[in-house]
This record gives sequence, structure tokens and C-alpha cells, in this order.
Amino acid sequence: MRLLIHNTPAEVAVWAARHIAKRISDHAASGEVRPFVLGLPTGSTPLATYAELIRLHEAGKVSFANVVTFNMDEYVGLPEDHPESYHSFMWKNFFSHVDIPHENVNILNGNAPDLTVECAGYEAAIEVAGGIDLFLGGVGNDGHIAFNEPFSSMSSRTRVKSLTEDTIAANARFFGGDTSLVPRTALTVGVATILSAREVMILATGAGKARAVQQGVEGAYSHVWTITGLQAHQRGILVVDDPAATELRVSTYRYFKDIERENL
Ligand code: GLP
Repeated sequence: MRLLIHNTPAEVAVWAARHIAKRISDHAASGEVRPFVLGLPTGSTPLATYAELIRLHEAGKVSFANVVTFNMDEYVGLPEDHPESYHSFMWKNFFSHVDIPHENVNILNGNAPDLTVECAGYEAAIEVAGGIDLFLGGVGNDGHIAFNEPFSSMSSRTRVKSLTEDTIAANARFFGGDTSLVPRTALTVGVATILSAREVMILATGAGKARAVQQGVEGAYSHVWTITGLQAHQRGILVVDDPAATELRVSTYRYFKDIERENL
């Protein structure tokens, strides 16, 4: 696993956006006709990365015309046009600002008549698209990736998940602080869906993520902290800022600062 420790969240966003843009451009330059397949998260962490990707797009440095996206998750039962649905989030903060064709965007439908069929269809669609080239993600305070809460199976696939009280409380900030307005269940890709991507890049910023980062890097591979799944990936990258790295051992911190010194 690679760990890049930047000074600020802004530096994390710039590094992550450039990395994504480079992967998309390299894919196009390789002569590959199949679209580049990008997995995407919601949450506050990736917002700055989306802003930077929009900036790169406006500067003519990256095009999403031949990119297909699959979002990680969506609340169950929240209308698609609700301001806090992940559909609304993605269009507002990213898709409507770049040149991605509407039909290339895939987001789970949390209002599907049969949620099991919806989840199975999503996995099938990823396969038909040729698999995910790069999955971008954030991490919850308790180490969850997408909505794979602690003790989710490391071999899990897209399915319905109940949210923990911690996650409901954390996400209440998007619902005026009212936990009763936060949906209790969500559809989410599984840990194995994320780890099946050819590359996985997880972002973590702020002191609130320090414990999740510490477990993800130094903890044992375990379903208790689903972020540890990244340790088993051949191309796993964790991009963090300094406050998110504060729980790491000094030796770990120094090791990654040293080995990535040319890339920071
Ligand atoms: C939710 C999302 C995750 C996200 C997490 C952290 O649980 N399902 O994908 O990583 O929140 O969000 P934030 O970046 O706002 O801290």
C-alpha cells in the first residue's frame, strides 16, 4: 500500500485530482477504445478533489467524454431529487460541471422496487463495463469504506446495509443536525466490489480520521476496520493530510515521508 502524507487538505485534493486526470489521459493515449471506468464517493472529503477535477477540465487538461462512473452508495428511500441524495450531491458537485455523457453515470437507485435485483444489476453493469479502473473513496471515522460498516464481510458485494448510529449521527450534519431525518439503510458496493477495482485510492483528511488511518495502515487486516482491506490490494493508495496521520507511529510516518519524498 502507498501512503502519501500531505500538509493540507488542499494538497490532498490537488494530488488526488491530478492522479485521476493522469490515469484518464493515459488510458485515452493508450488507444484503448473502452471507456475509463471510475468509481466515485460522496462525503465532504472528496469535495475539494471534485473542485480540482472541474478546474483541470475547464483548463482543458482532462475530459470525461469517454469515462463511465459508478458511485459507491445511495440512501434507501430518499427521493432522487432530495438535496441530500447522493444523486443530487454528484450532479451538483461534479457531473454537471464536466463533459461526462449523462448515460455514462451509474448511481444505485435507493427507490428501486426490488433492492436485491438493483444491487445484482449494479454488479453486472460494472462487469459489462469491463470492471472499475480506479475506485476513489473516503473513509468514515470508524474505518468504513462506502457504507461497509465495521464487521462487513471483506468479500461483500453490492447490497442493502443498515447504518450504525455513529454513521447516522455523523451524517446528520447534512440533514440540519436532525438524526431522525437520516435514512436508516443504504445501498452500497461491497468491500470486494471496491477491492476488485484495478486501483483503489482512499482520501482521509482531518484529525477525526486519524484512528481510521492508523488502523488502515498499521492495524491487522480485519473486518472490524473495513479500510484495512486496502492492505490486500496490489495498487492501494491512501492520501492523507498531516492531522489524519497523527495516530501513526513516528517510524511509520517517517518511513512513508521518506519513500514518497519525490511524490509529495
Ligand atoms: C459516508 C459515505 C462514505 C464516506 C464517509 C465519510 O459514510 N458513505 O463513502 O467516506 O461518509 O464522509 P466524509 O468525507 O464526509 O467524512
